[in-house]
Amino acid sequence: MKLFSSVNDVKDVPVLVASALQLKQNPYAHQHLGKNKTLSLVFLNPSLRTRMSTQKAAMNLGMNVIVLNIDKEGWALELRDNVIMNGTTVEHIREAAGVMGEYSDIIGVRSFPGLKDREEDYSETIFNKFVEFCKVPVVSLESATCHPLQSLADLVTIEELKTTARPKVVLTWAPHIKALPQAVPNSFAEWMRRADVDFTIAHPAGYELSTDFTNGAAITHDQDEAIKDADFIYVKNWSAYEPYGSVTGGNEDWMLTNDKLEAVAPNAKVMHCLPVRRDLELSSEILDGPRSIVIHEAGNRVWAAQAVLKQMLEAL
Ligand code: CP
Repeated sequence: MKLFSSVNDVKDVPVLVASALQLKQNPYAHQHLGKNKTLSLVFLNPSLRTRMSTQKAAMNLGMNVIVLNIDKEGWALELRDNVIMNGTTVEHIREAAGVMGEYSDIIGVRSFPGLKDREEDYSETIFNKFVEFCKVPVVSLESATCHPLQSLADLVTIEELKTTARPKVVLTWAPHIKALPQAVPNSFAEWMRRADVDFTIAHPAGYELSTDFTNGAAITHDQDEAIKDADFIYVKNWSAYEPYGSVTGGNEDWMLTNDKLEAVAPNAKVMHCLPVRRDLELSSEILDGPRSIVIHEAGNRVWAAQAVLKQMLEAL
């Protein structure tokens, strides 16, 4: 694998999931693959889980790791072509990414959307410029529109904990005070469509995601109906795709509570990518109770990242 930017870069999803679960059983079996190889993790935005889990995954494979918080520690990057750089930007992405490629065998990039210009965000300008100019394999650490390492970990978690062959999985919108990206729900939807699950998306009217990611999924505005008899409920806020990046306010009753689950989905396991705002996005009683698998899910980020890095190292 030379590029991991979405599920479409994966040749065989079940094989990748199985590899992650094998690595969980035997984390250090492939240390020879990463010997004398360097992974650089480049962050244009904050991270806890992606940073630590990907670093841990690389170390398990014997790699050296460089972490660069380029938003805080690097020179201000110019992303546009054909501009005279007489403003605040100091280094063009062409040179910056090219130089990083000289120091790295694989590069990971995190770059969030601006949520102002849909065309610009959905064309993945920043991520694609890194890919173009660094000239080494690139793994997305969450781009403007996708978070594939998260979704792979989510699918690994579902495969690991499911108690029926074809579980019912529901992605439900949750309230928030900020406009958040669509990357996590976009990716979750497209990975679930490639998995052997019964998949439904529930959100208030106005929060429809791009059909490029949801095509074929059942979609409803009735949360109770959606979560009925669910095996896994994935809670996540996102801002609107149309008008792009907007939030309408209200819909606080979409926060998942134990009362809602006890009524219609008593056996559901509750997932969230984290970070989560307690008692706004998801109730503390769920997070602190037996239905929550959010910590387990975050733990599986290591094995998801390790499975991807392993395939990349094998292709070097
Ligand atoms: N879920 C996730 O990507 O977490 P971080 O933003 O902390 O990396």
